[in-house]
Amino acid sequence: MFEKNNQVNKVALIGTGFVGSSYAFALINQGSVNELLMIDINEKKAQGDVKDLNHGKVFAPNPMHIRSGTYGDCTDMDIVVICAGANQKPGETRLDLVEKNLKIFKTIVDQVMKSGFDGIFLVATNPVDILTYATWKFSGLPKERVIGSGTILDTARFRYSLGEYFNVAPRNVHAYIIGEHGDSELPVYSSASVGTVPVSKLIEKNEQYNKADLDTIFTKTRDAAYEIIESKGATYYGIAMGLVRITNAIFKNENSILTISAHLDGEYGNNHVYAGVPAVINRKGIREIIEIDLNDEEQRLFNNSVNVLKDILAPYFE
Ligand code: 2OP
Repeated sequence: MFEKNNQVNKVALIGTGFVGSSYAFALINQGSVNELLMIDINEKKAQGDVKDLNHGKVFAPNPMHIRSGTYGDCTDMDIVVICAGANQKPGETRLDLVEKNLKIFKTIVDQVMKSGFDGIFLVATNPVDILTYATWKFSGLPKERVIGSGTILDTARFRYSLGEYFNVAPRNVHAYIIGEHGDSELPVYSSASVGTVPVSKLIEKNEQYNKADLDTIFTKTRDAAYEIIESKGATYYGIAMGLVRITNAIFKNENSILTISAHLDGEYGNNHVYAGVPAVINRKGIREIIEIDLNDEEQRLFNNSVNVLKDILAPYFE
């Protein structure tokens, strides 16, 4: 009578702080995951989250089995999402967190791999491009199966603000932020469009729009996290929803294009680094990186951003 569903999508979440618990909350509300394992260095916190989320199940669109556990339980997980680590204090940059979080990641990734885990890592902790590279190195998994949240949130912030500016729904604004998820990132104006109308055309043809406003929108996008951290100590809802978006693209085998942190292997003329780029995401992880045309200035800024990341990586990885 009560038959089991064989298609079981399993996620392990490591780190149930603000970002991790917001991710779990967004996950239960979207209903694409059947099993969620919650792991935190503070076991009581993870247990409390499990209880709290269980009480919302009555209102969830689909059943989701939620439990707390240990790294040893990651064996048969499809995706391990890492949100653990120290986060930015007001005034700190994402790159200031490198040393602390690399140590934490070595311990986490080693223990997850010891469980026999052979799925996809999704990394959200900052500096995300550096820690995704570290996860790839520490785990030994193929690069397609180690994904960072990258510039998914920056792209979302940019689309939201452009949508407000042009007065259209953000989902109809197509514009990418690429490079480091951080201070050196860049907007790709040359291929930005509203519907299928290039943003450059909109500016050319309408007096009320101009490039200076777009530059302000980008600066606000880039610095949004500082503003939010200043006002409430952390950012978590936006990134949590971005992580669920990536999770869904994987489980639903969507072949969706999302700006995530991917390993560059010659794409955009760069290699040996993880950086935010548009990529096709499906059940296998990163199917391929999409190489959009950059103009000379965009390519220069992208190279600069990649070099910032490479300089940070250099002392830790030969
Ligand atoms: C954010 O951009 C702090 O990386 C985090 O919201």
